[in-house]
Parts: sequence; C-alpha cells; structure tokens
Amino acid sequence: MERRQFIEKLTAPVAVACVTCMGMGCSKSSNTPNNNAPAPPANVNFTINLSSQLTTIGSSLSQNGVVVVRLAAANVSGSFVAVQESCTHQGTSIAFFASSNTFICPNHGAIFNTSGSNVGGQSTSALKVYAVAVSGTTLTVTG
Ligand code: FES
Repeated sequence: MERRQFIEKLTAPVAVACVTCMGMGCSKSSNTPNNNAPAPPANVNFTINLSSQLTTIGSSLSQNGVVVVRLAAANVSGSFVAVQESCTHQGTSIAFFASSNTFICPNHGAIFNTSGSNVGGQSTSALKVYAVAVSGTTLTVTG
C-alpha cells in the first residue's frame, strides 16, 4: 500500500466523524426548551443567617438547589430573591451577575431576571421563585 493511500484510509473516518460533530453542533437539539431539565426542588425550607451571609447588595449563595440573592440593603423580604439553581433548559447551574441584575446560564446562555422570567439568550421557561421571609437577621426560604 502506498503511503498516500494509507493516510487517506486512516483519515477518512476522522473526517466523517468531524463532519458529524459539526452537524450536531448546529442542530436544534440544544435549542429545545425544557429538554432534560430537572424539576425544581420541592419542599424547600432552610434559613440563612444575615449577620454573616448575604451581607452585601449583589451577593448570592446556593443552597439546597436554590440561589438566594440580596438585592437591597434592608433586612426585609423585599430585599431578597430566591430561585431554582438549575436552568430550565437543560439543568445547568445558573449564576447571578450583580452588574446586570440577572441570572445567566453558562451552558447555552439563557438569561433570567430577578423575577425568574427568561429575558434573553436561550429561550426557555421561567425559573421557579421561592418565598422568602425575614425575621431579625434570619432569612427563611420556603417553597
Ligand atoms: S442548560 Fe441550556 S441555557 Fe441553560
């Protein structure tokens, strides 16, 4: 077998595989809302000590599958929001960005506002929003 023939036989399957992968990358499969998204956590009930956690505006933490964010200075329920951590598209963990006041999914770029609504990027359904209550320096998240 000639060297050229050998190389052609060796690289042909790789070329086919690459074309297949490129096609998958452009497919609509990643654009299907709620494809493989896990259900948001149910029966959530936990507390956060506001003396030591979420002390600054824009700070956030993840706990029990929920992301909790401080949006304002006062220790009142209206200063906080709690939403499901898993993206409603395919379940990747979202992150809060204080600079834009949005939750963004790093996987396909879904963007959610602090009400949980999808406002950009990957089109998908809204995040579940959990109830928050504040008593003194204790924040309770339920839902
Ligand atoms: S998993 Fe696709 S946008 Fe979040």
